[in-house]
Amino acid sequence: MRTRIIGTGFVTGEHLVTNDQIAKMMDTSDAWIRERSGVEQRYYVEAGTTTTDLGHGAALKALEDAGVAKDELDYIVFATMTPDHYFPGCGGLLQQKLGLATIPALDIRQQCTGFIYGLQVADSLLKSGQARTLLLVGSEVHSGFMPWTQWDFLFGRGGEAPSEADKARNTRFRDRVVLFGDAAGAAVLRAEDGERGLLGFEVHSDGKDFKDLYVPAAGFAGRPYVSESDVREFRHVPEMNGRAVFKLAVTRMPQVIRSLCAKQGVRVEDLDLLIAHQANLRINEAVQKTLGLSDEKVFNNIQRYGNTTAATIPIALDECRKSGRIVDGDLVCFVGLGAGFHWGAALMRA
Ligand code: ACO
Repeated sequence: MRTRIIGTGFVTGEHLVTNDQIAKMMDTSDAWIRERSGVEQRYYVEAGTTTTDLGHGAALKALEDAGVAKDELDYIVFATMTPDHYFPGCGGLLQQKLGLATIPALDIRQQCTGFIYGLQVADSLLKSGQARTLLLVGSEVHSGFMPWTQWDFLFGRGGEAPSEADKARNTRFRDRVVLFGDAAGAAVLRAEDGERGLLGFEVHSDGKDFKDLYVPAAGFAGRPYVSESDVREFRHVPEMNGRAVFKLAVTRMPQVIRSLCAKQGVRVEDLDLLIAHQANLRINEAVQKTLGLSDEKVFNNIQRYGNTTAATIPIALDECRKSGRIVDGDLVCFVGLGAGFHWGAALMRA
């Protein structure tokens, strides 16, 4: 038996925002963002659209693609670092939004490696017979941590422009906020007889340097766990040591791919496609170079969506499946690294 991904789908936030639009909010430029990160545009949700809403949209598309009725689902795994509420998590909210019975709904908190951890959990549940048809979702609404309030102006529908003071404040966070977008991807999985499907995983966690990428505010280390001063001082915006994260990503991702391939008895050059988490195009180019993979073997779409954390891998997978970048029998590798830090890889025979 192997776990197979039998359907995929994705949705984005409602508003496409270019780098030039972002440059109206702070001191940055299209040239800087493209050159340093590869991002050309991203999508943000309309106020009120939540991570669960995006996950719902992606889930419906994945179900349709799989030809599976939603009532056939018997397990939901939901990966996000931007849940609608501090608690409960989005899994149960999605179950309700889909109108499902009391099937289990599990939340995963592994940030950019959420989908890979989710695949591993899904594989274990399906192969052990504890689930038969599982929905795995990666969804994020990052716009809640953006440091500005002038959304109408940003979306080009009037409203007040940010003041010089607002722009100066936004500029403090420019290394982070230009990277992220809002979107969701989903997959429907089943265990089936045969050689095709998920082959294996290798995942790691190391909490030692978590402060290189974390949200200082809104946590139960504080009393109260969310405070006015946290918001006033913008501690709801993630802190990020960009260079440290970059270095970790370009080291850990090739390492884990090599290690997993060795365990599975395949060579890195046997990979037909690498789908890496989309945090920075420069990171993925460095990983590609380290592994000696040709351009045809690596797929990137950060240019169009930015970093959508748990959603990057299912979105890329959906685009690859539907555009013919993945054909039956291909050996596909997924890899990611993100806040925690958590990182890992998965191998799949399409
Ligand atoms: N626009 C213009 N200038 C900028 C911007 C911006 N958006 N951001 C930073 N700069 C400036 C800096 O102020 C600095 O100026 P200075 O030299 O005058 O001091 C200069 O550009 C260089 O800054 P660096 O931070 O050194 O730039 P770097 O080349 O390292 O790129 C980046 C920054 C894009 C953040 C990069 O470090 C990176 O991608 N790191 C990894 C990020 C990542 O993977 N995050 C994972 C998030 S996923 C998750 O787990 C949630």
